[in-house]
Amino acid sequence: MSPSNEAAEPARELPTSTARNTLTVRDHAEVVRIATDPERFSSTVSRFLQIPNGLDGPEHRRFRVLVERYFTAEALAQFAPACRRVARDLVDALPQDRVIDAVRDIGAPYAVRAQSAWLGWPPELERKLLDWLDDKLAAVRSGDAARNAEVAERFDALTIGLLEARRASDGSRDLTDRLAHDTSAGRPLRDDEIVAILRNWTGGDLATIALCVGVILHTAATRKPVDRRMREETSDAALDACLEEILRLDDPFTSSRRVATCRTHAAGMPVEKGQFIALDWAAANRDTRVFAPVGEFAPERNAAANLVYGIGPHVCPGRPLARLELRELVRALQAAFAAMVPAGAPLRETPPLGGFRTVPIRLHRVAPAERDGA
Ligand code: HEM
Repeated sequence: MSPSNEAAEPARELPTSTARNTLTVRDHAEVVRIATDPERFSSTVSRFLQIPNGLDGPEHRRFRVLVERYFTAEALAQFAPACRRVARDLVDALPQDRVIDAVRDIGAPYAVRAQSAWLGWPPELERKLLDWLDDKLAAVRSGDAARNAEVAERFDALTIGLLEARRASDGSRDLTDRLAHDTSAGRPLRDDEIVAILRNWTGGDLATIALCVGVILHTAATRKPVDRRMREETSDAALDACLEEILRLDDPFTSSRRVATCRTHAAGMPVEKGQFIALDWAAANRDTRVFAPVGEFAPERNAAANLVYGIGPHVCPGRPLARLELRELVRALQAAFAAMVPAGAPLRETPPLGGFRTVPIRLHRVAPAERDGA
């Protein structure tokens, strides 16, 4: 799901959550406490149906079980070869020795192609999804609720079109088809539920994966010891740990919302029922009481407290897929390019988005020193 990008949606039966009426929690311990206390801090913060992220209690658990079946080790192993192909094809077509933008030229098209391959969406949709992603990011930056709602509705219309095309199928064509015919919740899913699940999987995650790629490639280009370490790691688990540590240090999934269900306290302050809370994952991931010293890259030491994928009942179920996609891309880049160097000043994203808007880099098929005969 997306980093803070539902922040502009109006709340269901509740006043709209805005930066002004939202209490932001930044301490690691406090973020963990609230994220793991769904009784006092509800995830039902939007008037939009959000499955499973906007649900609480037994209803959340029912849909959570359904969703998790799409992210099992077996399901991911099946998708891995296709994901690898997507990564390699994209990397093979990248120019060397020319300035490219790691977010626009690698992150965004890779996010769209990998997600489309996973869901079984046709390659012809790529342009439409990329344009949609641009509009989506612009809407989040603007903080304009109407604009955000319009972009969300456009995504829903797109998914409804895809479902229409699957009406007559038997549920075996692709993953979207399987979801459309899923009865594991004890009954077939309604169209609005399927759309809500697909919106949660894709609508936000295209942006998250694109931003994660920007952060990872910026780090690889600017922190040589980290790049070297990633190239040396031969096991998937060790590379995943490096990638998650990079994302901890510069977390593009900035925050998630909750709403207090009773009079309670948060961040050392009394709060009333209905108080909106922002869990600032990015700040908690740099809390010096947990991760000192600031900026140090230490995957082993920091893994247990890393909050990149959240914590508690809503912890990211898409983590295995995100890991696979990021790992395959990094491996493909490492195999094709001996060096990646900065090629200008990167531009930071505008809050509430995290990560970078642009990361100019240059890719060298052989290390520059070798190429120059040094
Ligand atoms: C590197 C990329 C990703 C990051 C950093 C990330 C991060 C997160 C975080 C922090 C949460 C917790 C939100 C909360 O507590 O309110 C979350 C939830 C979620 N993520 Fe991800 N995510 C990523 C990729 C994905 C992917 C690829 C998918 C699926 C295709 C996905 C699906 C979900 C879903 C369904 C939830 C809601 C779970 C629930 O409410 O039970 N995520 N994600």
